[in-house]
Amino acid sequence: MVQKNETLIGENQARVTVDFTDVIGTINRNIYGHFAEHLGGCIYGGIWVEEDSQLPKVRGMRKDVLKLVRDLRPPVIRWPGGCFSEYYHWEDGIGPKEKRPWRFDWKWKKPEPNIVGTHEFMDFCQQVGAEPVVAVNVRTGTPEEAAAWVEYCNGSNSTRQGKRRAENGHSEPFGVKIWDIGNEAWDLGSEYSARRFVEYARAMRAVDSSIKLVAVGSSHYDDEWNRTMLEIAGEHLDYIAPHHYDGWKVRTLEEGEQHYYANLASARRIADTLQRYVNLLDELLPHRSEVGISMDEWGVWIESRQGLQHNYDLSDGLVSACVFNAMHRLCRRVTMANWAQLVNCLGMIQTDATRACVTPVYLVFKLYSNLCGQRLVRSSVECGYYTLPQELEREVKRIPYIDISATSSEDGRRGVLVIVNQHVSSPISVQLDLKGLGIIQRVDLHYLNGPEPFSKNTLDEPEAVTISQQTLSEAPRRYDFPPHSVNVLVLHVG
Ligand code: AHR
Repeated sequence: MVQKNETLIGENQARVTVDFTDVIGTINRNIYGHFAEHLGGCIYGGIWVEEDSQLPKVRGMRKDVLKLVRDLRPPVIRWPGGCFSEYYHWEDGIGPKEKRPWRFDWKWKKPEPNIVGTHEFMDFCQQVGAEPVVAVNVRTGTPEEAAAWVEYCNGSNSTRQGKRRAENGHSEPFGVKIWDIGNEAWDLGSEYSARRFVEYARAMRAVDSSIKLVAVGSSHYDDEWNRTMLEIAGEHLDYIAPHHYDGWKVRTLEEGEQHYYANLASARRIADTLQRYVNLLDELLPHRSEVGISMDEWGVWIESRQGLQHNYDLSDGLVSACVFNAMHRLCRRVTMANWAQLVNCLGMIQTDATRACVTPVYLVFKLYSNLCGQRLVRSSVECGYYTLPQELEREVKRIPYIDISATSSEDGRRGVLVIVNQHVSSPISVQLDLKGLGIIQRVDLHYLNGPEPFSKNTLDEPEAVTISQQTLSEAPRRYDFPPHSVNVLVLHVG
């Protein structure tokens, strides 16, 4: 997408041009992925509940949460951490539950009952239709331990570990294709970590040569870490994984609109991180175009209260939409991503003992994962922008009011245009120049919005921010998109 500021365009006007015949990339659905860690009410309480809980459940999993996750059409879910995985020994979490040991989780300083282990997580993935991504322990584990886990998950019943899996109730291999080697091991040093990656990769592939392996990337962008990892381990890895948390803490319009735009700037910084990874892969691994970027932890993180509880507001939803638009543009290399996290702990779903509600980030995931096409088509936008006051800049000076993505379905029968209006208070009248779709039969407009830029849903008031829908009989030439909204136009071709 070309995004330029056109002086002829007024602040409340924009022009969007899309050519649906010009396919410029393929989007991998794994970018709409998730992350569930044994931390802060995500696993225990959020997805699984006590045996004696009266909540409707399926094999210990809350039915309300299962439905909400299923509705996201989650392509992949990463587990068991995060930092938790750096102290996790998978054999503690298999076999009869009453025999599993309690352990102390040295990272998060809490007891781990090991009630949820490999079988339970695979069951969860199956229930919600997602592919598991498993992170092995590099910090306090060994290549042998990781290889044994691969055999436990993927080996036939005739292998030592596959036989144990069958004895524990699952005769069929789980078939885990994607494995993370380590997590945020930055303090161990880039060279040590890259060499350790190669050792792990050799051991794990000796058991199953078909697996895909994810290497630790930097937080935001660190050239030294990433270069060293790619120079030493570049021929052995399938993905490199940046982590990027962002966000702006002040959530008020009392002093003016600047804090709202400062939060929206997070999306630009995350997009810049991804762009720099793309550039580095192209420079160092031009012969391995299949190597992808898996941003396996991303999101908004602005406070660390107990359990990392953070209830996202509408502005965070807009951030996630604009990051998806950037991932679409960078789809040649950005092929997987996992929002951190799924439930409660930095969770896009919030629960208490009996209720569950969804955040604007959840609603954005629902829109993109269910509606966007897999073919990226050429588009451009001309619009006005907001200039951040210098003291709030943090690498980003301007926020364009309109941010877009244009895609089409693989069969070409649906064009999908996402228009994010980031303006704090004004609708923007967008001229839509759409070509190349043939005769449009119907347009479904799905739009996410709430009364205020910082509106949020709570367990007591779960529907302040919602998705609404309306059907238009033809594609509009011009449309007024409301302030702080995410709008998805699905154009059905006859
Ligand atoms: O998502 C919470 C934590 O953030 C993860 O455990 C860790 O990898 C990151 O620092």
